[in-house]
Parts: sequence; structure tokens; C-alpha cells
Amino acid sequence: MTTKPEAPSLENLLHETRAFPPASAFAAQANAQASLYDEAAADRLGFWATQARELVSWHTPFTQTLDWSDAPVARWFADGTLNAAYNAVDRHVEAGRGDRVAIHFEGEPGDTRTVTYADLQRDVARAANALNALGVSKGDRVVIYLPMLVESVVAMLACARIGAAHSVVFGGFSADALRSRIADAEATLVITADGGYRRGAPSALKPAVDEALAGEGTDTVRHVLVVRRTGQETAWTPGRDIWWHDALESADTFHEPVWVDAEHPLFILYTSGTTGKPKGILHTTGGYLTQAAYTHRYVFDLKDDDVYWCTADIGWVTGHSYVVYGPLTNGATQVIYEGTPDTPHRGRWWELVEKYGVSILYTAPTAIRTCMKWGEDIPAAFDLSSLRLLGSVGEPINPEAWMWYRRVIGGDTAPIVDTWWQTETGAIMISPLPGVTATKPGSAQVPLPGIAADVVDDEAHPVPDGGGGYLVLTEPWPAMLRGIWGDRQRYEDTYWSRFRGIYFAGDGAKKDDDGDIWLLGRVDDVMNVSGHRLSTTEIESALVSHDIVAEAAVVGASDDMTGQAVVAFVILRGEHADRASTPEGAEAVQQELRNHVAKEIGPIAKPKRILVVPELPKTRSGKIMRRLLRDVAENRTVGDATTLADSSVMELISAGLSAGR
Ligand code: WT7
Repeated sequence: MTTKPEAPSLENLLHETRAFPPASAFAAQANAQASLYDEAAADRLGFWATQARELVSWHTPFTQTLDWSDAPVARWFADGTLNAAYNAVDRHVEAGRGDRVAIHFEGEPGDTRTVTYADLQRDVARAANALNALGVSKGDRVVIYLPMLVESVVAMLACARIGAAHSVVFGGFSADALRSRIADAEATLVITADGGYRRGAPSALKPAVDEALAGEGTDTVRHVLVVRRTGQETAWTPGRDIWWHDALESADTFHEPVWVDAEHPLFILYTSGTTGKPKGILHTTGGYLTQAAYTHRYVFDLKDDDVYWCTADIGWVTGHSYVVYGPLTNGATQVIYEGTPDTPHRGRWWELVEKYGVSILYTAPTAIRTCMKWGEDIPAAFDLSSLRLLGSVGEPINPEAWMWYRRVIGGDTAPIVDTWWQTETGAIMISPLPGVTATKPGSAQVPLPGIAADVVDDEAHPVPDGGGGYLVLTEPWPAMLRGIWGDRQRYEDTYWSRFRGIYFAGDGAKKDDDGDIWLLGRVDDVMNVSGHRLSTTEIESALVSHDIVAEAAVVGASDDMTGQAVVAFVILRGEHADRASTPEGAEAVQQELRNHVAKEIGPIAKPKRILVVPELPKTRSGKIMRRLLRDVAENRTVGDATTLADSSVMELISAGLSAGR
């Protein structure tokens, strides 16, 4: 069951009427021109074929554009062959641009590395040879569990170079989350590090890999490659574990890329769905690379002298498309920063913008709101005049944060691109085009040229301007997922069954009077906390896996800083029911369960609040009415509870909570 978008956000956004037309100086130099929309509208497939030929180098040119005969699994450019790592690295070196800086790396402790495209080529070739020497080859899966390092980019590209699919697992995920992903992907190699720097201290990673590999379903793994980052003491399994630097040192710097079909798997990235089991989103090579490069070029207006910085971690799709494949395929110069924004001080990001002369910055609303909270005197202490374009991604950006971003970070001139997309879409789908679109604070606005999106009602009819409903994608696009790893049925059920033949994104949206699209948040059981996707069901199953919990219900409650916050309602088992009857007891239970969730899934999934309740509100069919719990979590009057099996439950919950306060 899905619920309608919540009324409050609709109201809030309906009153937003400001618009910022592009400055003429920006428009005059912009990569994007309004004619791009006309070209794509006149011949959508021809338009994509042109992008694929212009932005990507093919080993064997393709002759077919889209094959939709096995819908909803698309095949794009299927008879072409190419290599993603060759596109991201070698071709720039071959074009005489080997000395160009690919990556300005800044470690959290302040260590730096400047990596040119020629350096990257040598490292990727070495790593590819090292992987081959460990028996990894085309068609295999490699799990990457690393902090934000140059080696992380090299590891991903080395996989692409040999035709092995990588599956990056965010370093903040627990050993168990890592184990289930290794098992589901049947990976043969894990690439990790001894640790990384987080908030001024080394934080170990390798122990989680050891623990994951001691668990069920991981015997496919033959080796673990370990990057030495922190130098901390590291347990070692001889024969299985190999230092990255040892493996690379002895490897040759020449490696012939493996030319793969356009539809060869490039990566699997796990993301939360509406059930407890994460989905392995599968992306392939040719279409993905085309749309990653196209969007990066036009949405970010990339020029030769730009210094680009996307603050995302490679553990998320944003890091895949807008740290690795998009920018490198376009030959960009970018900044990669290992650590947290407030280490050693709250001006670290702005210090980096000044230091490297960053001209394009791509980050998330939650980070912007955090900086707002810290105060504008912090960015004001740095020279941010190099910034000429700002991007936002991950969740709806509230107009207030948008205006602050524009004024304080963008000097009131830099256009903001609010980019809507998903792990599943692979690349940006809805966004203003800088220099063309008059931007509106809080709206992602228009499908990009070549993309077909709409807002529909329950019966799949497009809503009129001014109306609200569900966001759908009505035509296949090059970077679309090709399925859920090993589960075609789940792919069809999740995305293609809500409305026949069109892709259901899971987001609520409205169209304003100009027909521009405003995203209103998820309409399914998926939460968005600081731009990270979390499943209510996944956290509920983590909670009930603890001995003292009988039942759990999780909701995403609005939160000023993180967009949504995880709030859990739990019923304790009979023999433990008394434990939460005192404030100290309730606090201890809350702490214990929060730590348990961190251990089961990862610290990002820790509930902000856990409320012990005597009952949960359920319909007659047994479905938990999260809407009512959200009312409680957001301190609202509880809404219509007439469909509950037992209508007194909400009073019981409210009474218990106010007594406990
Ligand atoms: C969900 C996808 C896309 C990379 C980061 C998140 C929300 C994303 C926006 C935006 C409003 C947004 C949606 C979407 N979302 N960007 N600009 N405005 N909402 O990827 O983890 O796959 O999450 O993030 O709810 O469905 P993801």
C-alpha cells in the first residue's frame, strides 16, 4: 500500500513563487542551449545516439539505439563494444591530456595527492593486472568497501577495465550489511583498507570485512586486497589477505582493456527498498556511461578550466556517476576529500573551495542546512568567488536552504541545479539546465532533454498543471537500471506494476502552474535521512531481531536538519515489558536498541528516537498504519483512526507516551 504525499509540504511549496532567470553572461557561455530540448523532442532516440557518439568512445560502433523488445529490461546501443575505464582515463592520455590533473586528493589529516590522467592510467592498469593475477576476470563481481581515497576510484576503474562488475558498499555499513551484499553478489574479491580518517581519528574498516567473511554465504571470496591508509594494527589471514601496494608494485603498467558489449554489467549497487532485503541495482556499460557523461556536461556546464567537486561518497550512486564515471569520462579536474566537513574546523569545505579554486560544487540539502546552522560567518571567512555553479541532490531542498545556498555560497550569482534522480535511474533525470532555465527555489523543474517524466494520479492519468500525484518515467532512458541482481520478478513488481508499462519512482510530486515539477518525498515505506535511503521494514526487522523486542514499527518523521529522522515504536516482550517503566530504564533500552541497529545495518540507520509502546496501530488486515505513528512522532494531533482494528490503540499510545515524558 502507498500513501498520498503529505499535505504540509504541498502547502509549503505551493506558496513559493520566486524565480531566477539565467544571467545573460552565464547563458552566453553555457554548454546547454534551449535548442537541446527541440532536438530531443524531434527525434528522441536519434538524440541519444548522437550523445553516445559524441561523448563516449566506442571500440565497435553501435548501429542500434534502443531495443525494448524484452521490456522492462532495456538494451541500449547493444551491438557496440567499449570499455568504461578506457573512456574515463586512457583516451584522455591518448589525446595528449595526460598531464591534466584528474584528482586533487585531500585526506582528512591534511595529506594531499595530485593525480594526473597519466598517473591514473598507470595505477588503473596496474590494479587491473593485479586483479587478473588474483584470478578475477570478466563477469566476476568485486565488492569494494573503502573510504574516499584515490585508490577507491582506481579500484572501481580496474574492475571496469577487466569487465568485472564492482559492488561498492558504503564504509558506514555494518559487517552484517556487508556480508549480505557479498553473499547476494557472490563476489570473489573484496577490496578494503585498514581504515580511514573520520573526525580526526583513524577508524578501522578491515575488522568488518573479517567478520563478514566469517559469516554465511561468503565462501565465494578468495582474496581480500587491503589498502594501507591509516597504518593501524590489522588482523591478517595469510593466503587470503594481500596488501594493495604489494599487489600493484609487482604489476605491469600496461593493460589492454577488455572490450565489452554495451550491455555488459558495469556495477551492482545495493539500495533500500520497501522490504527488508536490499536490492542489488544493476547498471550496464554503454547507456549508463552516455547519460552520466551527458548530464555531467550539460547540467554542470563543464568547461576545460573548471575545478569540479562532488562531495558524495563512492558508496552511493552519486559517487559512481558524479565522482567517477561522469567527470572522468568528460576529462574533468576534480577534488576528492576523505573526511567530514567539520574536521578540524567547520570551515573545512570552504577552505578547500578556496584552496583548489573550486568552480562547480555538487552537494546535498542536509549538508547545506548544517552549514546554515553553523552560521554564515564561517563560509564568509573564505574566498568563494571561484564558484560559478551549485548543485543539489538527494532530497527535496527547502526554499530557505536553496536561498541561503545561492546567497551565501553562490554570491547571489551562481545558478543552482536541483537534480532529481535515483540509484535506479543511474544519472540525473530532472533538473534545470543552467543558462537556459529560470530556476525556482525548491523545484527540480524539468525533465532533461531526452527524458520523459510526468506526474500522474491513481489511474495513471497525467495531472493538470497545479495538480499533485506520483512521479513516473514514461519512456526508457539510457542509464536506467537493467534489473535487480538475480530477481527479475522483484524488478517488475517494484517499478512496473503500480502503473502498467511506466516506471513508478516512488516519489510524490506536483506540477505548478508553469508545468514545472516539485518533488514532495517518498510515498512508499522508504525514508530519506540526510539524503540516504533507508527502509522502514529493514530497520523494523533489525529491531525485532533483538531479544527484548516483540514488535516494531518505524516511521520517517520530518526533521529540520536531516529531512527525515528515523523514529521507532517498539513493543517489548512480556518478560522485559517493565524495563522501560522508569525514565532511566527507557533510556537504557533506547541506547541498547540504537546500538543494535547500528550493528545490524550501520550507524546511519540508528533511530533518532525509540518509543516503547504497549500496542501498535493496525488495520483489520494487520497492516501497521504508519501515518498515525508519524502524527505522534511529529507531535501532531493524530489523524483519522477509524480504519484501525482497535480504535482505542492510539489513545493508549498517546497516554503512555505523555505519562513517560
Ligand atoms: C530518492 C533516491 C540521486 C542520488 C542520491 C539519492 C530523493 C533525490 C532529489 C531531489 C527531491 C530527491 C527521491 C528519490 N531525491 N534527489 N533533487 N529532489 N528528492 O539516491 O538513494 O537512490 O534515493 O532520493 O526521493 O526517489 P537514492
